[in-house]
Amino acid sequence: MKQIDRLGSLGLFDARVPRYTSYPTAPVFLPQVGATQQAAALAALDPDDPVSVYIHIPFCERLCWFCACRTQGTQTLAPVEAYIGTLEQELTLLRDILPRGLRMGRMHWGGGTPTILPPALIHRLARAVKAVLPPADDCEFSVEIDPTMVDRAKIAALAAEGMSRASIGIQDFDPLVQQAIGRQQPFDVTRACVDDLRAAGIGSLNADLVYGLPHQTAARLADTVDKVLDLAPDRIALFGYAHVPWMSKRQKLIKDADLPGDRDRFALAELAAERFRTAGLEPIGIDHFARTGDGLAQAARSGHLRRNFQGYVDDRCATLIGLGASSISRLPGGYIQNAAATPAYVQRIEAGALAGARGHMLGADDLLRARAIEMVMCDFRLDLGAMRQAFGPRSEVLRADMTRTAERFGDLVRLDGDVMEILPEGRALTRIIASAFDAYNDTGARYSQAS
Ligand SMILES: C[S@@+](CC[C@H](N)C(=O)[O-])C[C@H]1O[C@@H](n2cnc3c(N)ncnc32)[C@H](O)[C@@H]1O
Ligand code: SF4
Repeated sequence: MKQIDRLGSLGLFDARVPRYTSYPTAPVFLPQVGATQQAAALAALDPDDPVSVYIHIPFCERLCWFCACRTQGTQTLAPVEAYIGTLEQELTLLRDILPRGLRMGRMHWGGGTPTILPPALIHRLARAVKAVLPPADDCEFSVEIDPTMVDRAKIAALAAEGMSRASIGIQDFDPLVQQAIGRQQPFDVTRACVDDLRAAGIGSLNADLVYGLPHQTAARLADTVDKVLDLAPDRIALFGYAHVPWMSKRQKLIKDADLPGDRDRFALAELAAERFRTAGLEPIGIDHFARTGDGLAQAARSGHLRRNFQGYVDDRCATLIGLGASSISRLPGGYIQNAAATPAYVQRIEAGALAGARGHMLGADDLLRARAIEMVMCDFRLDLGAMRQAFGPRSEVLRADMTRTAERFGDLVRLDGDVMEILPEGRALTRIIASAFDAYNDTGARYSQAS
């Protein structure tokens, strides 16, 4: 059987499994866990352990048809300014709850489009956060940047506030693909943005690309990849297009007939990955590439790669505090998500309470499986010896899952004593293999395809 047929027979094209940016995944969260548990967990944080902070800006001037992010369109700044006011109120609530002396080890602004903020609002937000959570000396600050929605004044404001990494959205440079996903973005505009970021001293650049988009062909994607390599980013995220029109209604504007078939889509991912490898970028996890000296590549080599809601990170902070509508916090006892719709989030904060609306408190089995799934997603291996050291004898419950996985995936997965490893030929199946360790697999949630 050809390799591609083999992968197909093991579910590559049919399985609908999570991307495991958390375990359990967000569809498992329940409304019984909310602001009360959020406040208690935040108050109990150890002030000596710096935290990561994620701030969600749910606004875009344009709404790209392919996009599955939690965002809303606006043509004026009024709702954006009002939202920054709500974030300031949320920070004031946090100030009264958090232990004194707690510092921020990482900050990430995502969206939506954080660069919709004009310089004055960038400064207001950054200063409000730092007043409550002073940055640790080695704090890193990253921001998602839409190259068509940024200028030198915004970049200067972000740089002045300490931005150390910029993540620019590219997706694809081909005009026909861009037209089909409702996102115009000329190469020269992107190039100018990259030049401005470098001139402002931003040391690290990430580029987001997507394969599996409408009208994408090998030749078109190869051209995009060459252009991206010309921009010389330090990191690249190569996401498979998640076509989930039942969740993201605007994706209905994308015609199924224009999407590449399963095998073509797989070939597109392989083509881009091969070009990145040839250009000297190291593959990281299932969908990232990084230059050898980059922190992500170093973390992957030293076994410190981690996975959270932002994807692969080299972040060592155990706690992530999410601010803004729909943000998810990872606190010592569990996950808590703020109210997803902006009006519901605003209403809660204005009533003087935290905005946690649903979540999941982590039991002992959750913690164990969360780490096992993270190891599979980050390292393509699961080491029961390392699990025993961290979690004790209860780790043995994973052995049966490891044995079943090795049997099911044959020579694509090697099980040698305590160590299960996904071999390079089987790595396209990583999400499916990770799901074998997921005790909530039957929630009925509909995820994107595994390849
Ligand atoms: C918040 S958006 C990007 C930031 C900024 N608004 C921009 O457009 O440049 C984050 C990233 O999620 C990825 N993304 C969004 N929708 C996706 C989908 N349906 N499938 C795969 N990746 C997607 C894109 O690569 C996108 O750059
Ligand atoms: S890709 Fe970026 S600009 Fe486009 S809708 Fe999504 S978040 Fe907004």
